Amino acid sequence: MSAESGVALGEAHAKAILIGEHSVVYGHPAIAIPVTSLRTVARVSAETGPIRFGIDGSILAIDELPARIAPIGEAARVALRAFGLPEADVLIRLRTGIPPAAGLGGSAAVAHAVIEAVRRFAGGELTEAERFELVQAAERVAHGNPSGLDATATRARTPILFHAGATRPLAVGAPMWLVLGDTGVRGSTSDAVARVRGFVDAHPGRGAELLDLLARMTGEAERLLAAGDVGRLGPCLDRAHDALVELGVGHDAIDELVAAARAGGARGVKITGAGCGGCVLALADSAAAAERLSHAMTEANAVASWVVEVEPTAGEGAR
Ligand code: MEV
Repeated sequence: MSAESGVALGEAHAKAILIGEHSVVYGHPAIAIPVTSLRTVARVSAETGPIRFGIDGSILAIDELPARIAPIGEAARVALRAFGLPEADVLIRLRTGIPPAAGLGGSAAVAHAVIEAVRRFAGGELTEAERFELVQAAERVAHGNPSGLDATATRARTPILFHAGATRPLAVGAPMWLVLGDTGVRGSTSDAVARVRGFVDAHPGRGAELLDLLARMTGEAERLLAAGDVGRLGPCLDRAHDALVELGVGHDAIDELVAAARAGGARGVKITGAGCGGCVLALADSAAAAERLSHAMTEANAVASWVVEVEPTAGEGAR
């Protein structure tokens, strides 16, 4: 949409963390997969008066935004400021298919969508680094001290490895399927991050062992993903899951979906995202097996499930 017409759109998608959540906060690597079927779209239009937001049929002022979507206000503010526009005279409408607080990068996707819509509205340019910084500024309102993984993964088009702020695309050697099952329990990322911090502070030796294990499993997963070895990737995910539970981010509703996925033949299954609710991720080696897992999780009271196909990459990396 052109800036001249006074209306502009921006969009972003969800992400699933294959492995490395929480340990990434401690500087270890993590692997994330884009989930492009779940999207958020922001639409900015010119209006007079204070900034307003159109969400779920309501028009709200910035100070009326519910806490769970407060980062939208911050994303709008930082973006308008970045382009030298006043923090006024716009209506920002938002439509999202990404469930919030489910571990799928909903808040980072909203920030990306709003920032991109404001950029187009202003007719300005942003480097990837500037865009990342603006999303991080909005994410800090939601998460305190985000690693940057969500801000990166909700814009990536391919599986990525994120490590200490740097990102690189990953090779995938064979098709595989991820089944995301939503417990419907809405956790808070900052609370989950604080739980892990509490565990690491209270049990420094064991905490360090678990974080190291997660880092090792992530390295192993990178290699197995490139080799297309779903059979050995599964147990890596299982071990990461057990470590996350011991670090304190499990939940009864997660246990139910994990048990259902295992009984349904998952090659591996784990928490994905912050945990304490949210989603689990199960690994399958065929579309039919993925459908069976999705059904098994729905039978075990998942409020929603999505199947994500991870396509093999072409070129040297894929073996
Ligand atoms: C949340 O999607 C991922 C966490 O590792 C937090 C972060 O990376 O900032 C739990």
